[in-house]
Amino acid sequence: MKVLVTGGAGYVGSVTTHRLLAAGHEVVVVDDLSTGHRDAVAEAATFHEANIAELGGLLGRWGIEAVVHFAAKSLVGESTVDPSLYWRNNVGGTLALLESVRAAGVGRVVFSSSAAVYGDPDEVPIPETAATRPASPYGATKLAIDLALGDYAAAFGLTTTSLRYFNVAGALLDGGTRVGERHGTETHLIPLALDAVRGARPALKLFGEDYPTPDGTCIRDYVHVIDLADAHVKALELAEAGTNQIINLGSSAGYSVREVLKAVQEVTGQDVPLEPAPRRAGDPATSVASNAKARDVLGWQPGRDLQQMVADAWSFAQEY
Ligand code: UFG
Repeated sequence: MKVLVTGGAGYVGSVTTHRLLAAGHEVVVVDDLSTGHRDAVAEAATFHEANIAELGGLLGRWGIEAVVHFAAKSLVGESTVDPSLYWRNNVGGTLALLESVRAAGVGRVVFSSSAAVYGDPDEVPIPETAATRPASPYGATKLAIDLALGDYAAAFGLTTTSLRYFNVAGALLDGGTRVGERHGTETHLIPLALDAVRGARPALKLFGEDYPTPDGTCIRDYVHVIDLADAHVKALELAEAGTNQIINLGSSAGYSVREVLKAVQEVTGQDVPLEPAPRRAGDPATSVASNAKARDVLGWQPGRDLQQMVADAWSFAQEY
């Protein structure tokens, strides 16, 4: 298929571009480089520096058959202080993109959604049928887009899949290809812990040790970015025509922050310098996906373990 990847210069988008190309698809990347990196875009992809709201009739001209849509603002904290940026960019941008999709007669859309739509869950592992109570404007914009895609699928016959990611980690390291997490503003546990180990950042703030979990720290469901990217390829290829699916991408297992830090210690051979800190607003104690639907609908489950995620992230981090 000829696939448009929006946000293909970002972390998950750049890895997915590589996996789409490896699966034999042709890829066009659009990214405005507001947070992405030009050098993360695979050489075999065609690149256009543009914002998703400005594409107009270009998808038809490019012969696009399907869209994998990552382009978004994705900092939870920033979204709470500047919700307008998130609603305009994420929701407004996506609605404009969907008009370009309709105008070009593109049949398939796979969307990068988030576990942030669930907020503090009533039950774990979290099924796709769980109540959606986003704890941030970021999560609210992801939920709004999930709902819009359902409406567009029903009315216009689009085939749409929202993939709700839990925690993503690791890097794609394949010969000369090295793509990983390189956020200008980094908020994620594993890259921050690795940077603290190598002295590139200060001690890691441990956000709360008084949660109702066995060791008092938050439990999360980590998936290797290559496994996550492969779920997009499967969603693109396997979605039944005319359907709208919402699918969680996780492992159905969780690790506490302390367990992640132990994995970092094992991989790097060094303790992570720590600074105790209060809870971070909006963090649920436990967030773990049920991946039953991903297994049923996509035949997907993650294959790479936490050790591998940390090892690949460590190898990648040392290059920057
Ligand atoms: N943490 C720390 N110190 C840090 C960074 C993180 O203790 O410096 C802790 C957090 O409190 C949390 C865990 O490590 O308990 C994981 O935090 P991340 O920021 O790595 O990931 P989140 O679970 O907060 O974020 C993920 C996705 C977001 C999404 C969110 C929804 O990355 O896109 O889940 O809850 F919005």
